[in-house]
Amino acid sequence: MNKRRKIYEGKAKTLYEGPEPGTLVQHFKDDATAANGKKHEIIEGKGVLNNRISEFIFQKLNDLTIPTHFIRRLNMREQLIKEVEIIPLEIIVRNIAAGSLAKRLGLEEGTRLPRSIIEFCYKDDTLGDPLVSEEHITAFGWATPAELDDIMALSVRVNDYLCGLFMGIGLKLVDFKIECGRLFEGETMRIVLADEISPDSCRLWDVKTGAKFDKDIFRLGEDNLIEAYHEVAQRLGILSENENAFTVGPRLVK
Ligand code: TMP
Repeated sequence: MNKRRKIYEGKAKTLYEGPEPGTLVQHFKDDATAANGKKHEIIEGKGVLNNRISEFIFQKLNDLTIPTHFIRRLNMREQLIKEVEIIPLEIIVRNIAAGSLAKRLGLEEGTRLPRSIIEFCYKDDTLGDPLVSEEHITAFGWATPAELDDIMALSVRVNDYLCGLFMGIGLKLVDFKIECGRLFEGETMRIVLADEISPDSCRLWDVKTGAKFDKDIFRLGEDNLIEAYHEVAQRLGILSENENAFTVGPRLVK
């Protein structure tokens, strides 16, 4: 068996060289981390669920002509993606106050924001991914003003789609994090959605009970993370109701 060339290893995913130039294989691991890597556990099955949930969302976004790096899922843990130059920003979109925003501004968790808010963090583990402004981003050349416009327009479209998708399955999209990259095609370059969208990178609260269906379960030291991610996959119609078999299409929760 050929050993693949590892391109990059992150906390929850590894990137390998792809089968053709300009492609990579994105492998979802079972590692869960919080507090900038200080808390770390292996949660069996998380990578498989995130691969499926992220595939589902990225395929829908592709169908809506929202540009992403996603090509297709390869197997239980891996997807084929387009190689992009990652912009070193975590782009956070918030609809409801929670997490670091609630703490920073003294807002009560669960307060609906006057409008959706986009924040940027500079991706640097040694600095703890600090919050930065558009001024920092353009002054330090992490992205140009035109790229930032594209990133914000893309973030708004992704938020609109995801809010509707999750509301349809009885979940409120509180906030989420995305990453973007530059895709070079011949002479042209465009900004595309990269990385993943899964319960690892979103806050999802049940509309009726307020129960959490995201990585806050792990951050809070509770042990029902896999059950929650499983339920998200089931409600999306990726998993059938009683077992692990995969199906197609979301199930409307009234
Ligand atoms: P925060 O409230 O901790 O800043 O998180 C905002 C959203 O971004 C939340 O949905 C979790 C997600 N997120 C990540 O996916 N990775 C990260 O490293 C951080 C800090 C947040």
